[in-house]
Amino acid sequence: MEPLSPQPIESAESSNSSTSEAVKPGNEPDLHIPDSPDSRDTVCMATMTYQGLEVLFSRQQIAERVTEMGAQITNDLNGEKLVMIGVLKGAAPFLADLSRAIQVDATFDFVATTSYGKGQRSSGAVKLIKDLDHSIEGKNVLVVEDILDTGLTLSYLRKLFLQQHPKSLRIATLLDKPSRRIEKIEADYVGFSIPNLFVIGYGMDYAERYRNLPDICVMPPGDPE
Ligand code: IMP
Repeated sequence: MEPLSPQPIESAESSNSSTSEAVKPGNEPDLHIPDSPDSRDTVCMATMTYQGLEVLFSRQQIAERVTEMGAQITNDLNGEKLVMIGVLKGAAPFLADLSRAIQVDATFDFVATTSYGKGQRSSGAVKLIKDLDHSIEGKNVLVVEDILDTGLTLSYLRKLFLQQHPKSLRIATLLDKPSRRIEKIEADYVGFSIPNLFVIGYGMDYAERYRNLPDICVMPPGDPE
């Protein structure tokens, strides 16, 4: 299936309050747990609310797309075993959901690289700060990433993993920002292709915050760094 284009939807929160009050540098949205069942109802059954953020992909849209990706990956594996390698920290929720949508015998491993530090800008340099726990020689490997942006991280990881001679090496990314690419690399499985927006939620952060938002939201521009 072709990657989907983003369909911005209005959150319950933004339909009641102006998004022109969206986040400004140094004025990030506050998260709070609703304190009554009534307030929970007003945010589409969310367990957490967030103010002034545009929802790019709702949890339902994410769940549906992840299920489709899992079915496609299952089909491509033809019953063979899989090692899923999550790129920490952002890919953790995606790996957890995708793995449960894949119907083969799968194991997990994780790597961590340096990424965007505290802001929305990349330093350009990629460094491995956590290596694989187990060899992937002769294995079917699926690298699971939250977002493919410049391509620097996945190009670096792909080269690194290929040195171990896996049987196969494929890449699944939930989001893809093709217009930002610096290194020539494409994922084998893409959830959604998006324009040049900085997004948060469902594992993705801004200065380590917002990873636990259940929906993927747009972080307004204006980096305090
Ligand atoms: P790349 O090396 O530029 O492809 O970046 C990959 C990493 O950058 C991702 O795994 C994210 O950690 C981070 N990143 C890129 N774009 C975004 C974004 O819009 N929101 C949050 N993190 C991002």
